[in-house]
Amino acid sequence: MEIRDFCSKPFDLFNRGWALVTAGNEESFNTMTVSWGSMGTLWNKPIITVYVKPIRYTSEFLKREEFFTVSTYGNECKKALALLGDKSGRDCDKVSESGLTPLFLENGVTFEEAQCTFVCKKIYAAPFIAELVPEFAHEKYYTDEEEHIVFIGEVTEIIGGEKK
Ligand SMILES: Cc1cc2nc3c(=O)[nH]c(=O)nc-3n(C[C@H](O)[C@H](O)[C@H](O)COP(=O)(O)O)c2cc1C
Repeated sequence: MEIRDFCSKPFDLFNRGWALVTAGNEESFNTMTVSWGSMGTLWNKPIITVYVKPIRYTSEFLKREEFFTVSTYGNECKKALALLGDKSGRDCDKVSESGLTPLFLENGVTFEEAQCTFVCKKIYAAPFIAELVPEFAHEKYYTDEEEHIVFIGEVTEIIGGEKK
């Protein structure tokens, strides 16, 4: 699909639908569920931003790799996404446990079951600055754990499309 033709409800895509963020290659990759994310335009490029805590194993792959994917799924995969958002790839082979089938792309990794995959070229990565995070967010999310890292990716390819 042409990137400019993509049409979705961005407020639902992450928070209601959940998504997987995946980084790595055929030799080693990791994936995790996200419900925070944004889509839009930056520096005149179509972009997706994801917010990943540094404690996540996936953040190591996101830091290392030039590309990552963001993929969306139907309700039939909700259990798999719940598992991938609960267990860590550091401790187990959670991808096998989830039953999803990895699909290796020229730039990145997604899953055959995905409805839609956004291939993203990382163009910016930096953690939130603790002092600048609003108080409500600080109290709610960062009393025990470090601030999220913001990963911004230029969408270079969209595979599949949102089911209406
Ligand atoms: C519905 C859902 C949404 C989540 N959204 C995020 C998110 O946006 N950012 C984040 O850092 N963690 C998020 N998580 C937590 C990670 O997915 C979870 O810690 C995961 O086990 C990390 O796996 P990893 O250690 O293999 O990277 C979410 C979990 C669930 C179940």
